Amino acid sequence: MTIGSVTLLVIVCFCSVYAQSSRKLPDDFNIGVATAAYQIEGGWNEDGKGEGIWDYMTHHHPEKITDGSSGDVACDSYHKYKQDVQLIKSLGFQRYRFSISWPRIFPNGFMNKVNQAGIDYYNNLINELLANDVEPMITIYHWNLPQNFTNFGGWTNPQIVSWFTSYAKLLFESFGDRVKLWITINEPKQICVFGYGTGIFAPGLNYSGVADYMCTKNVLLAHASVYRLYDKIFKPKQKGRIGITIESVWGEPGSDAEEDKKAADRMIQFDFGIYAHPVFHKNGGYPKVVEEYVARRSSAEGFSKSRLPKLTPKEIDYIKGTSDFYGLNHYSTMYVKNKLPDPITNPCRIKDMQVHTYDDPSWLSGSISYFRLVPWGFRKLLNYIKNNYQDPEIIVTENGFPDYGEIEDNNRIKFHKGNLNAVLDALIYDNVKVKDYIVWSLMDNYEWSEGYRIPFGLYHVNFTDVNRQRTPKASCGFFKDLLYTRKLAHDEN
Ligand code: BGC
Repeated sequence: MTIGSVTLLVIVCFCSVYAQSSRKLPDDFNIGVATAAYQIEGGWNEDGKGEGIWDYMTHHHPEKITDGSSGDVACDSYHKYKQDVQLIKSLGFQRYRFSISWPRIFPNGFMNKVNQAGIDYYNNLINELLANDVEPMITIYHWNLPQNFTNFGGWTNPQIVSWFTSYAKLLFESFGDRVKLWITINEPKQICVFGYGTGIFAPGLNYSGVADYMCTKNVLLAHASVYRLYDKIFKPKQKGRIGITIESVWGEPGSDAEEDKKAADRMIQFDFGIYAHPVFHKNGGYPKVVEEYVARRSSAEGFSKSRLPKLTPKEIDYIKGTSDFYGLNHYSTMYVKNKLPDPITNPCRIKDMQVHTYDDPSWLSGSISYFRLVPWGFRKLLNYIKNNYQDPEIIVTENGFPDYGEIEDNNRIKFHKGNLNAVLDALIYDNVKVKDYIVWSLMDNYEWSEGYRIPFGLYHVNFTDVNRQRTPKASCGFFKDLLYTRKLAHDEN
């Protein structure tokens, strides 16, 4: 054998190993990156912006935030948005999902007073993205409610449907000529359960099993109202698409016992089915098991009717079918076992559910143990959505990993590699309609009640530096390479 043929053999072997261990992203598979207004913008009281519920909570109750901080300055993206667009572009991302701060547009929430400087800010951002070939995707509500509304009950007040619709209408009028992808609401569970049930999120109310369910009904109606407005008035001209984003966790039965299988299903229905079923299921309405369990416990507690406010047949029809795609935020999988009913005390959503959840400590996790890499769980979830919700188009609107502050964030790379492969398996082998994957998050930012302690960014941000310097982590290299070669290593390491 000559030197030349040895070289050829080595090249052939290398290529076949490479072919086995990497796969090509389909040409129409789209990868983007996300942030949210309160988490990155700062400029909390600049140029006419009003007070939001997170401004209020962080200023008046810093004890509710692990490091006592606020998003007053955050990543200072209000001033650095042009630089941020360059960060997105330099990695080759095709899409940027960001949110609008409601009190930056309507300082007191109501539509009688518009803040033009707020409109200008988002116009500039959108134009900058388009000039750099990045597609804008807007989340209308990512938890930034004008504080004023808390005086009137916030999301527990049915009037929120009309307030939210007026706000969204102005956004369609102002930005809809250039923005073709819209999310009405990010994560109803976090809004209702954490904001009105456990109180760990603004506005910090803890009336679990009551206010969280009141909020649920209003969030669903508000979403449907905005969808219908866009669908009827704006879509024919603007030709965009609009949907809701629901954080959905996969629940795997903790054993083969029938009661654990039922418990896993119950957990799924309480966790995301309560929001997804009314919108995506062919019959609409709440999942029956949620209605039954809340009604039974409400009655045992002495309530004359269920704590879960009913959806009337008209409301069920109004909400059903109101999403052009399933916006999926996915972060983890859990094992689920049945739990015997708790003794009757105060109303509590967790007690309504009657499940015990746990995870496998061998699953890769980051600085918060909830976020775990379980690719098979992600694939099962995608199949569940396909099979139970009329095979919708799915946009993975968030998937991300919390590090410990390191620049060599190799576990984040493992996490995205594993999950992207799960998504491609579901697309290619299971025919799930999932062709969009959005990474959470572009840069380290304000992680809600955890403050700046938990970094999710591809870019590290130095929060002690007035310039909020951004430094690429190893995962920037991973995505830059992936987006350039469009080849994804198939292993999970
Ligand atoms: C939220 C983000 C948050 C991320 C990580 C999602 O639930 O939409 O705002 O930063 O999870 O916790």
